Amino acid sequence: MVQTKVLPYGPAAIAEAARLIGGGQPVAVPTETVYGLAADATDGAAVALVYEAKGRPSFNPLIVHVRDIDQAIGLAGFDDQALALAQLHWPGPLTLVLPLRRGSAIASLVTAGLPTVALRAPAHPAMRELLEACGRPLAAPSANASGRISPTRAEHVLAGLGGRIPLIVDGGPTAHGIESTIVAVARGKLRLLRPGPIDLGLSPARAEAVEAPGQLASHYAPAKPLRLDAAEREADEWLIGFGQVAGDSTLSAGGDLVEAAACLFDRLHEAERQPRPRIAVAPVPARGIGAAVNDRLRRAASPRPAGS
Ligand code: TXA
Ligand code: MG
Repeated sequence: MVQTKVLPYGPAAIAEAARLIGGGQPVAVPTETVYGLAADATDGAAVALVYEAKGRPSFNPLIVHVRDIDQAIGLAGFDDQALALAQLHWPGPLTLVLPLRRGSAIASLVTAGLPTVALRAPAHPAMRELLEACGRPLAAPSANASGRISPTRAEHVLAGLGGRIPLIVDGGPTAHGIESTIVAVARGKLRLLRPGPIDLGLSPARAEAVEAPGQLASHYAPAKPLRLDAAEREADEWLIGFGQVAGDSTLSAGGDLVEAAACLFDRLHEAERQPRPRIAVAPVPARGIGAAVNDRLRRAASPRPAGS
């Protein structure tokens, strides 16, 4: 249990929030849609703490909040259509899913290993000032416990996450009260992944194409067979260890589950690049954020449907 402070929105609250985020902690802040639980998007361990605080049983990719289009362009590829949408609707409640720029600083846990990233420049002054003070992109899912509805007041956040996060910045009730519109932009086509405050006149993507929320069809899965709960490696396997099981690489030599979550997708990508044709992963305990690690590993290990 941590002591959860609630500070009214203002310079002192933003300074304290920036200090905590700089130290790798997640902080709840208002946006114009719902309250978000923000962490440094370039720090995998900080992002792992977001999942842990929410008690998410799985890793959904998170929305990355940016100051402006310039900062966004450093993180993702914008075609003309994406640029036009951002110019028209940012800052505001529109999230664009775009190709992740190679070598961008975004932690792989944020995108759940996907080659795309969801970006938005929020309009709420609290989140904007926090982005300015932190000087880096902030990953922020809605600040509710997993499976609960999104918070539109600081009291909702406190009821759901009190004792799990160090600070809530109280900016009163949010203006929109529903989450941002999410649109994927790829090869000149727009797909509505989540309806929201901004109506672009698109009908929701067909069921099999739905990627949000929580129904991501295209979750990253390695292109090699993956064996779970491996105590040791077989000759043709690259073993990803954990704790006592050393492996060719490790999720955490010290058996730290937050560290394991933070580097999970990096280790899977690394394993995929090895000449050995198969991947094995050591047992990971399912307590705390370990449940989400196991969920993700099970998905990565299950055979992919044809054509995906
Ligand atoms: O209004 C909002 O968008 C709020 C505030 C805090 O900004 N944030 C929010 O985040 O609703 P979250 O994490 O609760 O929802 C993010 C949604 C998820 O459903 C996820 O599946 C989708 O965005 N998403 C994120 N990255 C994606 C990607 N690369 N491809 C497809 N969907 C993605
Ligand atoms: Mg949510």
